[in-house]
Amino acid sequence: MAAMCVIKQILKKPDSVIGLSTGRTTLHIHQIISKFFAEYPSDLHQVTFFGVDEVMNVPREYSGACFTMLKNQLIDALSIDDDHFLMLPTQSNDFPAACREFEQALVDRGGVDLLVLGLGENGHLGFNQPGTPFETCTWISRMDDQLESRIRSETNTPPDVLLGGVTIGLKNIMHSRKILLVAKGTNKAEIVDKMLHGSVTPQVPASILQLHPDCHFLFDLSASKYLQYEH
Ligand code: GLP
Repeated sequence: MAAMCVIKQILKKPDSVIGLSTGRTTLHIHQIISKFFAEYPSDLHQVTFFGVDEVMNVPREYSGACFTMLKNQLIDALSIDDDHFLMLPTQSNDFPAACREFEQALVDRGGVDLLVLGLGENGHLGFNQPGTPFETCTWISRMDDQLESRIRSETNTPPDVLLGGVTIGLKNIMHSRKILLVAKGTNKAEIVDKMLHGSVTPQVPASILQLHPDCHFLFDLSASKYLQYEH
């Protein structure tokens, strides 16, 4: 369903600006979109894809960099041109300037039509961790400790080099016209319930989505096991 939502968006508006997330949840979505367009070739030269976040201070070609993951999972399969695939940089002498440039590029293309989001077990969106103010724009945040130590060892990054997460902010997320949040697995069940039924608080960044006028939530049965259904 998530893949079909992206496909529908592209067919409805060929110059759509679509935000993508990396992770276990979205991998399968990207595969289905790729297969669909392999089977039903369409003119995709107007669509712009961008990544919601990126790992900083690693080579862009590192397999765990969002750039490389998205390229391998979707962008190359769809033959998207470089200037229609916008990513925050993994390396920069001036990350704050790069963040402003990235935001401006999205504005210049008319703003975000559809944003596909995964959900962190602690309620993070992109790399906006618990405690992030809701008005945050694109910025340098941090990864969770587990992900950081995995990436540090895989890339042999020394301890004195910061391994942050550059990410669009919660304000940018809320400015997207349409959002699709996808969560799968029992490990997401508790946070799914909190996100939808808890208070709207920076301690659960994803809770802000309760206030978005066009946010769609897609869960598998495991992730939705604490939700009450009306029959
Ligand atoms: C990562 C990414 C997010 C992603 C989330 C969920 O930290 N920065 O963009 O949505 O975690 O990942 P997964 O789908 O693997 O659980």
